[in-house]
Amino acid sequence: MPKKTSSSRRSTDAPGTKARTAKARTDKPRTEQPRTPAARPPAARTPAARPAAKAAGASRAGASVPALTLSRPDFLAVAALSIDDVHNILRTAAAIKAARGANVADRLSGRAVAMIFEKASLRTRMSFEVGIARMGGHPIFYDLGASGDRIGLRESVRDFARNMERFVDMIIARVYSQAILEEVADEARIPVINALSDDHHPCQGLADALTITEKFGTIRGTRVCYIGDGNNVCVSLLESCCKLGGHVTIICPEGYTPPAELIARAQADADLTGGSITVTADARAVRGQQVVYTDCWVSMHHAAPAGHAPDAGGGDPASRVAAFAAYQVNDELMDLADTRAIFMHCLPAHRGEEVTDSVIDGRQSAVYDQAENRRWAQMAVMLGLLKA
Ligand code: CP
Ligand code: NVA
Repeated sequence: MPKKTSSSRRSTDAPGTKARTAKARTDKPRTEQPRTPAARPPAARTPAARPAAKAAGASRAGASVPALTLSRPDFLAVAALSIDDVHNILRTAAAIKAARGANVADRLSGRAVAMIFEKASLRTRMSFEVGIARMGGHPIFYDLGASGDRIGLRESVRDFARNMERFVDMIIARVYSQAILEEVADEARIPVINALSDDHHPCQGLADALTITEKFGTIRGTRVCYIGDGNNVCVSLLESCCKLGGHVTIICPEGYTPPAELIARAQADADLTGGSITVTADARAVRGQQVVYTDCWVSMHHAAPAGHAPDAGGGDPASRVAAFAAYQVNDELMDLADTRAIFMHCLPAHRGEEVTDSVIDGRQSAVYDQAENRRWAQMAVMLGLLKA
């Protein structure tokens, strides 16, 4: 499969991830046995077969949803996408949604997709499985977390990746470590999608961008605030909104803001798109916002299951909840926002902690629209990565 020929990928990867020394794998002759990944016709992997494969892609592009070309072979962080990629994914997602998927019904025919999850999930698992099945593909869910296993624990990341590519056409992984996911992506010749790591939740970020666009017509110029923990969801929302010209306000208690290098990177996008970023600890910065977004105060990686160390500096769950007490999204806080503001939450919500029932069940809540949009946005991403 003609994957991972982009040597530029390293230069645009999210900061804080490990150097990608293994990427040369596709750029240099291999000395070991030639490997023919199993789930695709072997001939399609050879240079000579590429024109035929392209022609097949071109005929599929004749369907009502045009082929989507992405600048990257994997989807590990929103920041790694180009601004055009984000626009194109959202446009494709909207087209798929308008037809409830009927216009892409066979696009993953014959493709198998592995979903490797180290952590629990409702929305991500369901939306991917339904999306893959709707496009004629075969999702295979592997609950790695159920046995306490993680990628790289039972066997090396390299061996994991080089086995998986013999079986399936794409890996969707929910992991603890972003660095391990990057390593999987480097090692595997098939696309890899981040279904959430401790640091990023890019699929959520795209679905949220789709939802905000639906509600306001555009993100450009829209005032979006995130209040609470500067976590994976916050980072991906920030990155997607800055790709699209939004004005993002991050409201976090001191010590809980997103990593400075990720904010700087998003700022570079905001500079290009006319967006802006404000970071404050003042909850009253919700005033006048058009989107009020929050997420849980204790993420899955903070809860630290047996065998997994909590992130350094994350604090124990009880002290985290105490630190965020003044940042609950309740009616009083929502009253500060624009009168037509929407409330957003990636879910699962911890009702009574970061948000009250009255807000999440209220007229301004968009949380189930967000959840649904996971499906459409992810279908677009999969089409792009699989060149389907
Ligand atoms: N928002 C989200 O990713 O939900 P799940 O954890 O249920 O997949
Ligand atoms: N921040 C949360 C998001 C869950 C979808 C977590 O990582 O647990």
